[in-house]
Amino acid sequence: MGIDAGTLLNMLRGAGPSTALRRFLSDNYPPAEQGQAADRYSRLVERFQALRPGAPVALARAPGRINLIGEHTDYNGLPVFPFAIHRDLAAAFAPRPDSVIALHNLDPAYPPREFLLDPSIPPYPTGDWGNYGKAAAQGILEHFRERGREASGFRGLDAVIHGDIPPAAGLSSSSAMVVLVALMLLRANDLAIPGRELAALLARAEHYVGTQGGGMDQAASLLSRSGMALKIDFFPVRVTPVPLPGGYAFVVANSLVTAAKTAAALDKYNRRPIECRLAAAVLRTKLGVPLKLLGDLAGEKSRQAAERALHPDPYTVAEIAGILGQAPEEIARTYCQRRDGTVFPEPPDGFKLHPRFRHVLEEGERVERSLAALQAGNVPELGRLMNQSHESCRDLYEISCPELDALVGICREAGAAGSRLTGAGFGGCTISLVRSELLDAFLRHVSRAYYQDHLQRPPGDLSSILFPCQAVTGAEVWQG
Ligand code: GLA
Repeated sequence: MGIDAGTLLNMLRGAGPSTALRRFLSDNYPPAEQGQAADRYSRLVERFQALRPGAPVALARAPGRINLIGEHTDYNGLPVFPFAIHRDLAAAFAPRPDSVIALHNLDPAYPPREFLLDPSIPPYPTGDWGNYGKAAAQGILEHFRERGREASGFRGLDAVIHGDIPPAAGLSSSSAMVVLVALMLLRANDLAIPGRELAALLARAEHYVGTQGGGMDQAASLLSRSGMALKIDFFPVRVTPVPLPGGYAFVVANSLVTAAKTAAALDKYNRRPIECRLAAAVLRTKLGVPLKLLGDLAGEKSRQAAERALHPDPYTVAEIAGILGQAPEEIARTYCQRRDGTVFPEPPDGFKLHPRFRHVLEEGERVERSLAALQAGNVPELGRLMNQSHESCRDLYEISCPELDALVGICREAGAAGSRLTGAGFGGCTISLVRSELLDAFLRHVSRAYYQDHLQRPPGDLSSILFPCQAVTGAEVWQG
């Protein structure tokens, strides 16, 4: 596997015939950023050469994503509408003769990590970057073990990695790491799994790190197409690509509130899937229908019946236990478990089943309407739906924060046709839809009003926190 490092470097520098790698750069990066991207990939190859002189090498990349609309719908079986962006996690890598995965990062904030491909890989402490590699490896090994191939038959790999997706910012740097390591491990062992199947497998595999997320991030990183947004449906994964409208920019603005990967942050996220599972259980009993996920109630009539069946006040575990005819301990065990086996406690303000249900169902509907709007060339309608989505994320799903609300307000004031938080929430980025002719004025206004006035940051280079994003093609491995 792999090619000579010198040849790969020449290709990155533009020498020789046009290659898949060069085409990728020209199709997916704005002209001004192509050289920079090639330099970044070259640095990975050079560092790899120093680590494993003479070894043939390959390059892999997995992009981050923004989500236009459809937040916290995926694990409920309702669609999302993301696209991969030209910020990625990339690696130069080669197989090893043994079963060790050795991950080096150009950024010293991420110390080297090494682990053995074992049927049951023990995690590092919560939040460690190596856990995303372990999640991928464990998921891939499990997949093949079910098909009769044991972990002991797998080759490990050496990889030198670098990411330019802002971390803990809701742009899915963690899932990019899961996707990257999975692709490298597959290639190092001459194996393949079709994209949609791999996306679903890696969504489950990422639960290893403690989040109970859905499948949006892995699917967006793997299946995206240049210049397109993807409506993604789940169970099973299906994608509908739609060209992004001409004459508009999609601008990421980082609130600079980090959604760090602490146990408390995992709990904030996981509370939502738990509330959704509880709402589905209560509705299953009250409506007497065999639904599995809240998404099974999409459709006007069943949705209205469901809304009437839930009261607006929060629920206690005792009340839910009464409705389901089960002991409170059984409710905790069935619906509220964390990955480490401990139980997510009843929140002091109760489980908010009604507002969560409303958000999920209405948000799923907004995704369908956004797709129809883009297909009909009605871009302002997408903007209105994005605005409504933010309000719902703030008021019903409670995943916004004062900084995100301020930033969204400023982006709208600066001329955005729509602006909302993107990703899991609790900090991270906003995505704004901006007419191209307003872009410069928009960027000037946001940099002054949010970064200088609101956050009181000294003026400086904002290109990694406030930038228009390109919709790029999904993750891949190159050997030339
Ligand atoms: C995180 C999860 C996704 C999705 C979003 C919210 O990014 O990984 O599966 O639930 O939050 O839409």
